[in-house]
Amino acid sequence: MSLYRNPRAPMAGILDDIEAMRIIDRSGMLRLTEEFPQQCREALEIATAFTARLSAPQRPANVVITGLGGSAIGGDMAASLAAIGGDVPVIVNRDYSLPGFVGPNTLVIASSYSGNTEETLSAYAQARSAGCRMACVTSGGELGRMAEADGVPVCRVPGGRPPRASTGFLFIPTLSILHAHVPLAKSCSPGAISLALPLLEACSVKWGRNAPLDENAAKQTALRLHGRIPIFYGTQGYRGVLATRWKGQFNENAKAHAFAYVLPEQNHNEILGWDQALTQAQNWSVAYLRDPQETDETPRIAKRVDVLKTVIGNRADQMDIWAEGSTLMERMLSLLYLGDFASVYAAFLNGVDPTAIAGIDLLKAELSQFPG
Ligand code: PA5
Repeated sequence: MSLYRNPRAPMAGILDDIEAMRIIDRSGMLRLTEEFPQQCREALEIATAFTARLSAPQRPANVVITGLGGSAIGGDMAASLAAIGGDVPVIVNRDYSLPGFVGPNTLVIASSYSGNTEETLSAYAQARSAGCRMACVTSGGELGRMAEADGVPVCRVPGGRPPRASTGFLFIPTLSILHAHVPLAKSCSPGAISLALPLLEACSVKWGRNAPLDENAAKQTALRLHGRIPIFYGTQGYRGVLATRWKGQFNENAKAHAFAYVLPEQNHNEILGWDQALTQAQNWSVAYLRDPQETDETPRIAKRVDVLKTVIGNRADQMDIWAEGSTLMERMLSLLYLGDFASVYAAFLNGVDPTAIAGIDLLKAELSQFPG
């Protein structure tokens, strides 16, 4: 049996049936995913023009990027790059309120694709009261209106897409604003994204709808995980951030449970959860999100993966998922991109429209009527 064949997936054929995928994919999530490299190109132009207009950005003492869900993950990616290539603390805030340390020497970047997420609007107001330096990334909404009225610089990005299909429009301006205030090492800077675009364009073809299952790693990954609960383990650094992203994409696109954690922390607690997993874990699949340079650069992490695989043994299906490319930015973006594709194919295998987010819409509608 081929490695990626999954007997629990009688629907496997759909992944090579372009018309059937089109019917399920009512709002075109697969097309948006295939267009990610173009989105990044456009986002680079928008971000470059925006940061050129920032008047004398000054180095802050610390940076808080505030946002939720699809509008937070670009902040996580930027923060993980700043941890390697910058010298100022950068944290991501996913709450109504900001940490108590924020003040006039804090740069707060408020990121909300819709511009209407109440937690982000609340954090924005707190940042204004605390006298923080500010910038916003949004397609408009209330955040766009308030920031423009307040004279806060707003990087406006094209609207009309789901936030999670707008990662280029959110991550790239966020990283660019950060880089304008706190110059990052070249390998972590927006310039490195331009150099990664040819690889992303090649990935768009090889993981896109026209690449058949037998040759398509994204379709194969979706099929291998189908009918199982994926646990994404990020092996340190940006892979930890992307484990959260893969989880979120499987939740939102495939409407499926998934879990995420990061090494080495996993080795200090969750590893023991596997003791009781003999029967529980039959339908789990552990997917290690890995970097090909791990063995050379962080051999102790690679060793941890080997030992962890032995500990988990046959309690769960286990697989490695590798980033592609030679530069850090290529590897980060390719691993992000593979998860985006795989989650869309996972939606098709589940027979669900990847774009629909009824539960999130309901929650936002109910909360908008709730006083206070
Ligand atoms: O993917 C989604 O739709 C959500 O995770 C949203 O990103 C989240 O609810 C926040 O909304 P917004 O991105 O518009 O601020």
